[in-house]
Amino acid sequence: LTVCGLLFIAAYLLGSIPTGYLAGRLLKGVDIREQGSGSTGATNVLRTLGKGPALVVLLIDALKGVGAIALVNGYYALGQMPVMPATWRPWLVAATAFAALLGHSKSIWINFKGGKSVATGLGVLLAMSWSVGLGALGVFAVVLALSRIVSLGSITAAIAVPILMILFSAPLSYKLFASAAALYVVVRHRSNIQRILAGTEPQIGQALPTEV
Ligand code: G3P
Repeated sequence: LTVCGLLFIAAYLLGSIPTGYLAGRLLKGVDIREQGSGSTGATNVLRTLGKGPALVVLLIDALKGVGAIALVNGYYALGQMPVMPATWRPWLVAATAFAALLGHSKSIWINFKGGKSVATGLGVLLAMSWSVGLGALGVFAVVLALSRIVSLGSITAAIAVPILMILFSAPLSYKLFASAAALYVVVRHRSNIQRILAGTEPQIGQALPTEV
């Protein structure tokens, strides 16, 4: 159980690395939490700092998710003591994945603010199951291409993840993780949902209505 706790904390801290915040500070001297949507995610970095920084933030945030799962896989690969039963592994992966999402959106370094757990979510999914990760990315890409609204793509992809887990016969722990994570990502998008319903959600790269 100590090992479980340590893996959970390590994944939380990894997710907590405030990539978007650091980009804002270093590249433009701004606090990204006070810009655009206030999110530290790649979408708000795109709005505030442009394409290059957004791509780098997206990549690093996704890698934080991959890294969190690698912690569990690494632990088992090393055969560390005390060795935990192999049957625990999918549960440990699911818990660690959720810890990384929490860290990304409630970062300990920036007053428990952060992103909306989409990029880090993609990272953990790709590391947990390639097929589910690519499926979710596909849903995101199609919705984004049709609507040009990133948040709509994120929300739709998040809702698709538990369904994809069922379609690809993932372990029970993965299905539970996917349902909890989808709910979490949707809740993180509540201000976006209000704007989508009001017809004021900006399209990709555009400013928020209140900004102009
Ligand atoms: O991944 C976050 C995206 O879905 C929405 O970001 O900044 O438009 O609220 P933002």
